[in-house]
Amino acid sequence: MPVSLGVNIDHVATLRQARLGKEPQPVRAALVCLAAGADSIVVHLREDRRHIQDDDLYLLRKVLKGRLNLEMSSAAEIVGIACKVKPDQATLVPEKRRELTTEGGLDISANFRKVAQAIKKLRESGIAVSLFIDPDKDQIDAADEAGARIIELHTGRYAGSRNKKERGRFYSQIREACKYAIGKNITVNAGHGLDYENVSPIAAIPGINELNIGYSIICRAVFCGLDRAVREMKALIEK
Ligand code: PXP
Repeated sequence: MPVSLGVNIDHVATLRQARLGKEPQPVRAALVCLAAGADSIVVHLREDRRHIQDDDLYLLRKVLKGRLNLEMSSAAEIVGIACKVKPDQATLVPEKRRELTTEGGLDISANFRKVAQAIKKLRESGIAVSLFIDPDKDQIDAADEAGARIIELHTGRYAGSRNKKERGRFYSQIREACKYAIGKNITVNAGHGLDYENVSPIAAIPGINELNIGYSIICRAVFCGLDRAVREMKALIEK
């Protein structure tokens, strides 16, 4: 199975929010991404609404023919919105107000009841649920126990590694975690910090299902346009 590409368009909204204006429109970006070969659109409705707004989400759900993956915390307010909007998938992530971006995977054991409850509610609304976790066997076991059938492995440490040795170590962790989860019949996605330089080894991991990528694609789009930025990423992960 070819590896799918989910494009996170949060930073299109970041640019719009810089002036609290109407442009650029995330929904238009989503349509361009899908036309360029993206397999799904990812947005994170943060509790502080720093980029994607509620209206964006409702509009995306109404307009998009492709798959919509909502990144979200397990907070009751956000779970309630998700159950109304009904994205195809919800990806539960940890969320801190002061972070620049998601800093690490969910600690499922430490938040077991909250996460398990969110999974149950979302599932009852017909939404597939993925858990964003570090590449760690204990977290995979906890995700399994909490009822998740999809996980997204956090690639941020791999992407941010300072040298070849460190990168090799973080890469092996992701590879091992992927194998372990697939052995438990869990679908494995990955993402965070992936770019045009570091994506290929991750895309080559046997069994990986989907990569979710945002920042690097939007950065490239500033110079060459969103259509081309998505096509180039898609070509890399297909290779
Ligand atoms: N996956 C998850 C769970 C994330 O939180 C993010 C960042 O919003 C991404 C993927 C995309 O990360 P990046 O923007 O660094 O490509």
